[in-house]
Amino acid sequence: MTFTIEPIIPSAKQSGVDFGAIINDLDLERITPEDFDKLYEAVYTYQVIVVRNQGHVTPHTQYELTKRFDPQNIDMYGHGGMHRASESIIARDISPLPVQPQVQLLGNGIVRNHCGIDEKKLVHPSHTVFHKTPLTKEQMDAGYTRFYRWHMDAALYKLNPPKVTTLFGIKNPSSRREIVRYDDGTGDELEVQLGTTAFISGQKAFEILPPEMKELAFKTQVKYAAHPYVWISKAKAHSTGLGMVSEGKELPKEELPPIDEKDIKIYPMLWKNPVTNKVHLQVHPAAVEDLIIDGKPVGDLEKVREILYKIQRPGISPENVYAHEWKDGDFVIFHNRGVLHSVVGSLREDDFRLFHQCNIASADEPVPVTEQDFAPYKRN
Ligand SMILES: [Fe+2]
Repeated sequence: MTFTIEPIIPSAKQSGVDFGAIINDLDLERITPEDFDKLYEAVYTYQVIVVRNQGHVTPHTQYELTKRFDPQNIDMYGHGGMHRASESIIARDISPLPVQPQVQLLGNGIVRNHCGIDEKKLVHPSHTVFHKTPLTKEQMDAGYTRFYRWHMDAALYKLNPPKVTTLFGIKNPSSRREIVRYDDGTGDELEVQLGTTAFISGQKAFEILPPEMKELAFKTQVKYAAHPYVWISKAKAHSTGLGMVSEGKELPKEELPPIDEKDIKIYPMLWKNPVTNKVHLQVHPAAVEDLIIDGKPVGDLEKVREILYKIQRPGISPENVYAHEWKDGDFVIFHNRGVLHSVVGSLREDDFRLFHQCNIASADEPVPVTEQDFAPYKRN
């Protein structure tokens, strides 16, 4: 007998959430080849899989399992070594585990005697250092928070995006509730668990677009900046965490590490799910430098961001967000090329959170959506 997949039943407010599933009866330390095949299918079918009660899973098992989802991988963490460049906005949020350097430690509070680490102070990413107009301390004390940054896990320069990410919630803070504010004039809000991880489905984000926007997305290529996380290291994000505000703060090429033109990534805006063949809108908005529409670059960063925001904002509306309610020992596997996710929460110094995360850069490019795949969405 193998395990049971229970699709998430979203609350009435999350009417757009048509992804996510929970598994209660699987031990990832004793997974059979048959179990793995089923799990593989499930990750691409449900996009986000939560395996409960896995507190005993070792970093080595997490690494081996993550690798198994992409056997031809190039055996390198999703950001390679680039996230350790001191200017990179990724550097402050994660650090490799000494016992298994492909697995990253993240969380909040002081960790002692953990997987080769004597003592380390972890800090949960806070939107206050990333958003242009952050909440005040009073607002956060009153229980408000923001989406930190909507993204997929990917270097987006030199390396291809990992196919899956594993996010292992070993220890979670107390169950304080918070309200995510969008602060974009819509009045949108979302009630969440403290320290939740928020997900949206790229498939849903595509489906809800009007026909003309679907066509625009189909004919658009996304050009990512070279060394994108250094490039935006002085820029600030939108209050929804969805992309950057344009103030001309991106670093000029001369201030970036050396650039090799062949390492610059240009991907279609729509990616095909390799198992369901469904169409996913998949863009990491903060890292985008240009859009190439019908072969012509837009060439104006402010305009590029405006177009992208219009295409991506419907996807993150509260009804479409799955904010996972973490339990200690939850081992989440998500389709990194099919969803966007965001750190959420305004943790205080005494809120303890301990997570392990792993993803591996892929040798394969994302699968593009062909004319044939897009045919059902075409206007006559
Ligand atoms: Fe991430």
